[in-house]
Amino acid sequence: MNIIVHSESKTFHLQNDYISYIMTILPGGHPAQLYFGKKITDREEYGYLLEGSIRSHSAYPNDDGRGYSLEHLKLEYPEYGSSDFRQAAVEIRHESGSRITDFLYQGYEITNGKPKLEGLPATYTEDDSEAMTLTLHLADEVSGLRLDLLYTIFEAGGILARSAKISNCGTKAVHIERAMSLSVDLPDADYDMIQLSGSWARERIPEARRLSHGIQGVESLRGHSSHQHNPFIALKRPNADEFSGEVIGFSLVYSGNFLAEVQVDNYDVTRVLLGINPTWFDWKLEAGDSFQTPEAVVVFSADGLNKMSQTYHRLYQKRLARGFWRDRARPILINNWEATYFNFNEEKLLNIASKAKECGVELFVLDDGWFGARRSDYAGLGDWYPAASLLPHGISGLSEKIEQMGLKFGLWIEPEMVNPDSDLYREHPDWILHVEGRKPSLSRHQLVLDFSRKEVVDHIHGMIAKILRESRISYIKWDMNRSITECGSAVLSAERQGEVFHRYILGVYDLYERLTSEFPEVLFESCAGGGARFDPGMLYYAPQAWCSDDTDAIERLGIQYGTTFVYPVSSIGSHVSAVPNHQVNRITPLKTRADVAFFGTFGYELDLNKLSEDEQKMVTRYTIFMKQYRELIQFGTFYRLVSPIGNDSCAWMVVSEDGKEAIFAYYRILNKPNNGFARVKLQGLLPDGHYTVWSYQHEDVPPEGILRGSFGGDELMNVGFVVSDLSSGKVGDNVLEAADFTSRIYHLKVE
Ligand code: GLA
Repeated sequence: MNIIVHSESKTFHLQNDYISYIMTILPGGHPAQLYFGKKITDREEYGYLLEGSIRSHSAYPNDDGRGYSLEHLKLEYPEYGSSDFRQAAVEIRHESGSRITDFLYQGYEITNGKPKLEGLPATYTEDDSEAMTLTLHLADEVSGLRLDLLYTIFEAGGILARSAKISNCGTKAVHIERAMSLSVDLPDADYDMIQLSGSWARERIPEARRLSHGIQGVESLRGHSSHQHNPFIALKRPNADEFSGEVIGFSLVYSGNFLAEVQVDNYDVTRVLLGINPTWFDWKLEAGDSFQTPEAVVVFSADGLNKMSQTYHRLYQKRLARGFWRDRARPILINNWEATYFNFNEEKLLNIASKAKECGVELFVLDDGWFGARRSDYAGLGDWYPAASLLPHGISGLSEKIEQMGLKFGLWIEPEMVNPDSDLYREHPDWILHVEGRKPSLSRHQLVLDFSRKEVVDHIHGMIAKILRESRISYIKWDMNRSITECGSAVLSAERQGEVFHRYILGVYDLYERLTSEFPEVLFESCAGGGARFDPGMLYYAPQAWCSDDTDAIERLGIQYGTTFVYPVSSIGSHVSAVPNHQVNRITPLKTRADVAFFGTFGYELDLNKLSEDEQKMVTRYTIFMKQYRELIQFGTFYRLVSPIGNDSCAWMVVSEDGKEAIFAYYRILNKPNNGFARVKLQGLLPDGHYTVWSYQHEDVPPEGILRGSFGGDELMNVGFVVSDLSSGKVGDNVLEAADFTSRIYHLKVE
């Protein structure tokens, strides 16, 4: 890893074993993009890549030549208003009403490691040798504004982290109307754009489309990163697949409104912009103040989508997530939400917990409904004290009893919200996000607290910290169950109302920071109506996230598959739930539900007392299985093998770091009569390793599994693993009854 600077040609070459990112400063002072892709050998200058062109109807900001039209150059942080007519990275409204800026190069700085981004989640280094950061200093002479562009190259993969900081060194306040975290111009448009899209209960399903002239992209304007679109896109060459070809991922470390936009101009140059959504964003920057954008993380892979994902997994698992739980296998939990919804009392909870304990579960989580007047979703949000009618001994008493059973105790909160029917709202009706004189829209009978206000965050912090201090709590599920509407704050001035969305999310980060630092050993799981805030920003504070409210095993295949495009298995909250499934009414075998939930943090979301004795035995075995292999599953290298999207089957696997051990999972979605043969080529094994393979296909298989034989690593990767007997209808030790929604898990180990 190195940052090479050629002073004469003003060329900057950020380079590691995987990538080269090369820029230069144009004669007019604008930073320009020369190359981003697989590592290339350094040279003194790459002027031939500038390709400035003389074209009719172009405009020229400088007198020194018609080749210098910004519209035809590949830029690093473009502005609109001069000679570039494409979408801009930055837009600033001056007191005069003008929006013109011209940020020109002043100098640079190189530091080892990576600076912290104040108040924002971001990737980090533990040692300065892990990364290097280049800061380009630019300034707009007329307004006195300064712009720092930060580029961090990591040693451990094709990773480049970018952000921008605008400082007002002038004398007058300005309004930032757009400040993207990243802009990059690529020299052609031969890409498919991949996005992770969906809706509540069907989040993050991968979709691809061919880039075409004009603008394409995804965004959120909901105040959270959203169920609808994840703050991520990838550009992949049309011939790239899971294991080969060029792919570039763009991921935003942010949990609020975002925009990921790709503009292909009429010369086939592709501009990618990623950052806070400029719609409804208007940040007043006083003289002397500065504004830091969130971070965008770019990953280049020359070896297909899996490599891109694995690079994100490693980075987000080890250098974005933090704290006590970062490197630890996650406790197997039971959550009472789908078991009871709001209909519970202490006795019922203890009953659920005690059966769970018998089955080997480690953590009991009490979900919604334990506080204030919260007997349904119509009341009580905001009143964070236990309901005496349900919990006569409070949370402290209940948590004590759970601990005495030998389980850890966890609790659900939704700290950003309030029901109109709550003491908190009656006391502080102006504490909600709203616009004076207009009725705030309800969603799930609740309103959003104004987390842009410190006193509101302080108050909520006081209540939540009190419960955490007084009770034995090991885990918190932090929910956020609605989108933001009528986004205004009672205390900000008229000209600052455009700051509320961003200030809100900064308030959320602040509360997370305070709670995670005071309670460092509490495991936080983020949640937003399932997966509406499954984003890198949240991962900085909470190393796992409830993936989706859809707990159906078959639906989860697609959801979890899509989630792994960016997010590590250790972050994916996944539970076994009851059948018929509460979201889609589907009936799937208990084993399939477990086999899918294994590829995540793993837990249960049902009352185990309601299962038959045989099923309870199976649950015990699944729990034993997960305890044995969770380290490998959650922290191994994950490979997507067969996509469930539009297919009758799905397969994935994890491999240990040394390649000697692996878990391979195969899922039959719909069975077919008289089916053809099927093999799945495995990945990541040692070609000359001899693997003993056990399967875990029957409900009554002991944790040791059934020996399937011994195979060479090269055999498993090149010939493939035969899976067609799944639908053969044969009866015997090694086959599963031919049916829909069946699955197999295999354990492979070099002897
Ligand atoms: C959201 C969550 C669920 C559950 C409910 C409780 O929908 O995603 O898991 O906690 O809220 O109201």
